Amino acid sequence: MKIMAFVGSPRKGSNVDTLIDSVIEGAKSTTDVEVEKVHLYDADIKLCIGCLACTALKGGKDCPLQDDMAGILERMQAADAFVFGTPNHVHSMSAGLTNLLCRMQPLIKMDVIRDDAGKIIGADATTLIKGKKAVMVVSQGDFSVSQSSLLLKTLAANITDFQLKKVAEIFSGGNLERAQVKEKEHDLQAAFAAGVKLAG
Ligand SMILES: Cc1cc2nc3c(=O)[nH]c(=O)nc-3n(C[C@H](O)[C@H](O)[C@H](O)COP(=O)(O)O)c2cc1C
Repeated sequence: MKIMAFVGSPRKGSNVDTLIDSVIEGAKSTTDVEVEKVHLYDADIKLCIGCLACTALKGGKDCPLQDDMAGILERMQAADAFVFGTPNHVHSMSAGLTNLLCRMQPLIKMDVIRDDAGKIIGADATTLIKGKKAVMVVSQGDFSVSQSSLLLKTLAANITDFQLKKVAEIFSGGNLERAQVKEKEHDLQAAFAAGVKLAG
């Protein structure tokens, strides 16, 4: 199986990256897994310019931005499962992960429903990654999960919008220092178990 893991932290080898590695280890413990890890702060993924070219409203054209994203979208369609990881940045997901989700909009195919006068009255959507599995991973500095309540909700909502099946949600708090999660065996084990589920 093919897993694509998106590391939405600018700190390589730190908390989010470590938890994602545990998810990958868990997946590898059950089956043959091919993994592509995408460090969102290293990849050439330009900021979405909001032109809507990719949407049904503008005829679902190719994104005009020339960067790594066209290849990533192609490989996402060939993948079986995803890991989306992010630190809590100002109570939200990181800018890198937010931008990835914006740039993933070409994967949503929408049929716009119009009335006789041509006014939009609804839309039917399907996605090119429908039914694939996903694990979300969140790390934060504070100990109280309430700091990430908005983030956990919005990331889960986006996973639903892309018609993915969320198999696990990994949250780890109290990780202000770089790679502090390495001291948290319980959280690493939960991430490993999420990987087992992802591959199962
Ligand atoms: C710009 C910035 C904003 C942050 N905002 C919050 C926050 O609102 N709440 C919180 O609990 N932690 C916050 N943190 C701390 C990170 O969520 C925490 O250190 C996390 O474990 C970082 O993961 P990483 O090491 O993988 O980057 C923030 C960190 C940065 C750099």
